[in-house]
Amino acid sequence: MVKNNGNQLELTDFSVETEVFRRDVIAGLSADRKTLPSKYLYDKRGSELFDAICEAKDYYPTRTEVGIMRRNAAEMADAIGAGAVVIEYGSGSSMKTPLLLEPLEKPAAYVPVDISREHLVEAAERISARFQDLPIMPVCADFTRPFELPEALDSDAPRMAYFPGSTIGNFTPTQARSLLQNMYDETNGGSALLGVDLKKDVAVLERAYDDSEGVTAEFNINLLEHINRELNADFDLETFEHRAVFNEELSRVEMHLVSRVRQVVTIGGTSFSFDAGETIHTENSHKYTPTSFARLAASAGWKVDRIWTDDRDYFSIQLLVADR
Ligand code: AVJ
Repeated sequence: MVKNNGNQLELTDFSVETEVFRRDVIAGLSADRKTLPSKYLYDKRGSELFDAICEAKDYYPTRTEVGIMRRNAAEMADAIGAGAVVIEYGSGSSMKTPLLLEPLEKPAAYVPVDISREHLVEAAERISARFQDLPIMPVCADFTRPFELPEALDSDAPRMAYFPGSTIGNFTPTQARSLLQNMYDETNGGSALLGVDLKKDVAVLERAYDDSEGVTAEFNINLLEHINRELNADFDLETFEHRAVFNEELSRVEMHLVSRVRQVVTIGGTSFSFDAGETIHTENSHKYTPTSFARLAASAGWKVDRIWTDDRDYFSIQLLVADR
């Protein structure tokens, strides 16, 4: 149904994706401690805001990781060895991919895996134009579940999972362990190169997720806008504020949306009450020490072979190999 709302056309959408979105949102807000899945932060506007976060002065992970890659490219390529198949998990726009493919010796193939077909195809084309002799075999899949690799892939070539950006930190340790186990299986017990953000001063962590330019706050609030638009909800954005807090016990930065007032919000006819100060938990970003990450990796069959960091030990890039 399309109804004319002033001069804006408002689509009432019952497509499968919308129904899943609705079900997830209603389940999350019905819970005792309200929560929303972080993947819904990344609509079109959210993805643009995330790119802006990566440029924000207080958000150190992206520029620190890129620095580590640049400074250690040759050493990494050497440790990885020649002829590897590179499988990138959640490749998105493959922004960080050239940093790895450039120094690698004769990679056998590049397999970007991403759930967004549009991003995937666009990125695959860009990488293929830049690395003309490299076979590119994109896989459109949800990398958090086991997936099949292309049949054309040489089954004898050594395989490496590439997972930059510290996205591993957005999973709980239990989920991260299962993802690392999948990577083990999908690489046939090959190797993995992961970006892992490290535990550090709480003030630095909290500033990174509540930057002084307000970009992260806008990113978090945009989730409510996304829900208003797609699920016909009436969140008053002015009555929610962004909060980032480091949970010491679970070693993670949590993002929340805090209701400033006691209020009722309606989502497509279903009502939810909020107390003043009540929060919706929207994202986790786990921070590891080299020891705690080695333990997690070991629980999934991996051994840390090499670890590269920056001079402040803010971020790490870790090369895992099968622990046999
Ligand atoms: C998706 C892992 C790159 O957790 O640091 C950044 C997401 N959220 N600021 C992170 C995020 C708020 C980010 N990564």
